[in-house]
Amino acid sequence: MQAAIDFIKEKTGNFTPEIALVLGSGLGDFTKNLNGITIEYGDIPGFKTSTVKGHKGSLFFTTLFDKKLVIMQGRLHFYEGYELSDITYPVKIFKKLGVETLILTNAAGSLREDFKPSDLMLITDHINFTAKNPLIGKNDDTLGERFPDMSNIYTEALRDKVKECALDTGIEIKEGVYVMTTGPSYETPAEVKMFGSLGGSAVGMSTVPEAIVSNYLGMKTIGISLITNYASGISKNKLSHNEVVEVGRIATQKFTKLVNAIINKL
Ligand code: HPA
Repeated sequence: MQAAIDFIKEKTGNFTPEIALVLGSGLGDFTKNLNGITIEYGDIPGFKTSTVKGHKGSLFFTTLFDKKLVIMQGRLHFYEGYELSDITYPVKIFKKLGVETLILTNAAGSLREDFKPSDLMLITDHINFTAKNPLIGKNDDTLGERFPDMSNIYTEALRDKVKECALDTGIEIKEGVYVMTTGPSYETPAEVKMFGSLGGSAVGMSTVPEAIVSNYLGMKTIGISLITNYASGISKNKLSHNEVVEVGRIATQKFTKLVNAIINKL
């Protein structure tokens, strides 16, 4: 990790980001009109590179509303074959660089009829349905506890801030529980019914490992899902990755506006 930190510090002139933002589908163009420093994942010691269509693979360092930011353009997924330790490695690096707040965004399928495609959902809590945990293995006591509490990952105080931003910008935001599966296959209708009855509101294939590690490291965590489709069985349509990408494209503007407002307010 020290090699990665030294490399990033050298490339960015000792930039010390306070906020990290992970871009999911729907926010891919967030950095389009921003000036900053780009570092490809492939150049950073220990970083793995993403293989998914629509996902880039670079860190972007910039200042927005006087806040210093590191933006992950493209994340790694468990279904790509990476270990959860690879997926969460950047989160540990962010902490070491000085990040205090991590904003995780993703695309998700709706488990409820009243959460529609192109809706935004503030994550209140999650269900880890992968049967894997990124903290498995020897614990580094300098980073966090062996058995970390997870009762308040997405804190009410931060959620209130996000809701205020939504109100200020006139953007509607739902609230709900995010369920993570490993993917890459989408769920069956029976699984979707089960997730709904277990208290889930949306289902996706990311975010939970990063949120667990962020909370373990003592960082504040915000999670926002862009609902790109009704999960399997809720609508009669077959699911396609293109649909997910397309709704992401359409909702980009409001998602960008909201995230900008959040960064401004943090
Ligand atoms: N299921 C799982 N992951 C997803 C979905 C879905 O329906 N939509 C976007 N990501």
